Amino acid sequence: MTTRLYLQPGPYQQPKETASQSVKPDGTRELVDRYGRVARDLRVSLTDRCNLRCTYCMPAEGLEWLPTEQSLDDEEINRLIRIAVEKLGIRQIRFTGGEPLLRKNLESIIEATSRLRTDEGESVRTALTTNGLGLDRRIDALKKAGLHRVNISLDTIDAERYVALTRRDRLAGVLSSIEAAVAAGLDPVKINAVVMPGVNEVDIVPLAAFCLERGAQLRFIEQMPLGPRDQWKRTDMVTAAQILERLEERFDLTPAREPRGAAPAALWNATDREDPQITGTLGIIASVTHPFCGDCDRSRLTSDGTIRNCLFARTETPLRDLMRAGASDDELAAAWAGAMWEKKPGHGIDDEGFLQPDRPMSAIGG
Ligand code: 5AD
Ligand code: SF4
Repeated sequence: MTTRLYLQPGPYQQPKETASQSVKPDGTRELVDRYGRVARDLRVSLTDRCNLRCTYCMPAEGLEWLPTEQSLDDEEINRLIRIAVEKLGIRQIRFTGGEPLLRKNLESIIEATSRLRTDEGESVRTALTTNGLGLDRRIDALKKAGLHRVNISLDTIDAERYVALTRRDRLAGVLSSIEAAVAAGLDPVKINAVVMPGVNEVDIVPLAAFCLERGAQLRFIEQMPLGPRDQWKRTDMVTAAQILERLEERFDLTPAREPRGAAPAALWNATDREDPQITGTLGIIASVTHPFCGDCDRSRLTSDGTIRNCLFARTETPLRDLMRAGASDDELAAAWAGAMWEKKPGHGIDDEGFLQPDRPMSAIGG
């Protein structure tokens, strides 16, 4: 079936002789690794705190938050973002958390980022991954600061299940933010839904119908082993193939984008058979069953100033202390490039002896 084939990943990359960490005559370089991948997309986690307690992400009591003095201040964040864009070839910045709307001065960080020019002379693309709480009140200011796109997390549109899943009674706030983001003309507004066995499989079709009706692009994400330990089992996760099967019960689906490139979502054009006027795009991010590590173009900066070359990296490269000890822009850029060079070919979730990263997802950034 075409829909099944469409989920096949590209082959894993082999080490490339040509991959090089060389510095160009103008003093810039690219964030390459020894498999020839080039990072263009930087995820910046602005805080490890959150105002929800999604069961797959955090315990009810929250986590031990980073003390303020260990977190980067605005000036330090702006400096590292500037180095990434002006010296290291980064072209897109996505702000994440925890919950990035909890970061004071988010608008001014976005404004400073938007003023930067990429190696291609374009303005940097900016995006925000948020749980949506309070976004409705801030969307105009964020847009004015230069924000291009938002991804809002929503795993169910059932109020009771939302409370069970996030441990907070805030569904109405998220729905209002989705409406506000669509009305503000951020196009496409993307919605992220993580599917968990026995928890929200029943939400797959209603979520899809809800998003298609509102012109938001829903993407289902296979749950990855990043949350509280012992909660994730490879054998009883909900797979992309199962999500597709559910969707096909109600929607006609045809592949919308091939090849996928560095974008993780396989996209389908969807038509609601119950009301063929309702059409749009649905995506599935099959991070576990069809990993896209071979095409990954990301680098990650945590709120305490550490570079991670992968969500699942077992090693980290702290830039904060280097920076506070007086390192120059070039020295920081060299340390960053060195961290990316070591990026592993894949996440290794299926390998024997796979170990979850020590940092929780909320302290890595999505
Ligand atoms: N697996 C997949 N996605 C996750 N997210 C958080 N934890 C996981 C996980 N274990 C998602 C959130 C949000 C984004 C930041 O990452 O739902 O959409
Ligand atoms: Fe907060 Fe996102 Fe974790 Fe939910 S998944 S608790 S919204 S950081």
